[in-house]
Amino acid sequence: MNNTTPPRGLLDEALQCHLIGMDPDVAQALRETLCAIAQACVRISDAASLGMLADADADADALAGRSHVQGESHKRLDQIADDLMAASLAGCRHVAAWASEEHEQPHVSHAHGAQGAHLVVFDPLDGSSNIEANISIGTIFSVLPHRYRGMAPGAADFMQPGHQQLAAGYVLYGPATLMVLTCRRGVLVFGLDRRGAAPQWVLACDDVRIAEHTREFAINASNQRFWEKPIQRYVAECVAGDSGPRMKDFNMRWVASMVAEVHRIMTRGGVFLYPRDTREPRRPDRLRLLAEAAPMALLVEQAGGRATNGTSDLLDLVPDTLHQRVPVILGSKDEVDRIVSYHADPSENVSWQLFKTRSLFVQPQA
Ligand code: AHG
Ligand code: MN
Ligand code: MN
Repeated sequence: MNNTTPPRGLLDEALQCHLIGMDPDVAQALRETLCAIAQACVRISDAASLGMLADADADADALAGRSHVQGESHKRLDQIADDLMAASLAGCRHVAAWASEEHEQPHVSHAHGAQGAHLVVFDPLDGSSNIEANISIGTIFSVLPHRYRGMAPGAADFMQPGHQQLAAGYVLYGPATLMVLTCRRGVLVFGLDRRGAAPQWVLACDDVRIAEHTREFAINASNQRFWEKPIQRYVAECVAGDSGPRMKDFNMRWVASMVAEVHRIMTRGGVFLYPRDTREPRRPDRLRLLAEAAPMALLVEQAGGRATNGTSDLLDLVPDTLHQRVPVILGSKDEVDRIVSYHADPSENVSWQLFKTRSLFVQPQA
C-alpha cells in the first residue's frame, strides 16, 4: 500500500473529487449511501471501543435505576452493529432495501423502498469470535443497483453477481479505525480522526495496490485434513519452504477476522484462503458470497489482486440464495493464479504428493 499520499479531505468531498466524470445524480446518490454507511460505522466503532465497559456501564445504570444508551449495551455487539447500520440506511433516501448477515430476509425501506437506487448488503460485525479477546473486528458492505425502480425489492433482486456492485468496502476496528472503499475506480483508504469535536473520515491513501508477489499465506490450518487436493498441495508446498518446490520460505498468519486478513494483504500482500472442506458435509463452505466474498473480491481486484473460489472468479458467481456460502481464495495475483492452476489440473504436477503425508506441524517419521 502506498502510504505516502497526503490526506486530501474528508469523506464527502474526497468522494466528490473521486467520482468526477460520473453522472452527477448517480454520483451524489452513491456518495449519500456511502456516507450513511460510514456514519453507522463511526457509531459501531464507538460501541466496539467501549468493550467490556459497556457491560459495566449497564450494570451501574441498572443499579441506579437509569436506562443506558438506548438500552443497548447489554446486547451483543454484532446485534448493536446490525441495528446501527439498519437505522442509518433507513434514513438514506437512496437505499431501497438492505440485507444483513444477521437476518434471513432483506429489509425493505419504509420510506424509500420503491424509489431508492441502491440495495445494500452487509456483515455488520465480521470476526465476532474475536470480540471478547479484543482482537480486530470489522464491518463489510456492498452496494448493488436496484434494477427495477418503482417496485419494492425482494430477495430475488439481491441475486446479482459481484461484478454488478457499484461500491464495496470494509471498516476495520483495530488500533486505528479505517475504511477501505472502492467505487470501481481503484481503492481508497480513510482513517477515522477523533481529534476534533466530531469524528471525521479523512482520506489517507487513494491508490491501494496489492503486491503481486508474496511469501505469506493465511488459512485455518486446523482444518487441513478436510481440504481438497489443490489446497493440500498449495499449503504443503508453502510449508516445505526453501527445501520444497517453491524454493523459498513462507510465513503464515490467521487472525480469524477476514477484515483484518484482507487489510494485511492490502498493506503488504499475501493470500487468504477459506477453502471448501469436508468437516460438515451439509455446510462445506464458510464465508457468505453476498456479504463477505463479493465485496472483498471487488476490493482485491480493484487493488490489482485476484479473487476466486478455485475455479471461477468470485465476481462472476450469481447467488442462488441471500446467505449462500462459497470457498474464498484471494490476494496477491501470482499466488491466486497458482492456486487456480492447481484446481484446473490437480494431477498435472504431483509434487504435492511428496508432502501429502506430512501434517503441517508434525514431521513424518524417518
Ligand atoms: P463472522 O464473525 O461474521 O461470522 O465471520 C467470521 C469469518 C471470517 O471473518 C473469518 O475469516 C472466519 O470466519 C474465521 O473462521 P474460523 O473460526 O473457522 O477460523
Ligand atoms: Mn463475517
Ligand atoms: Mn458477522
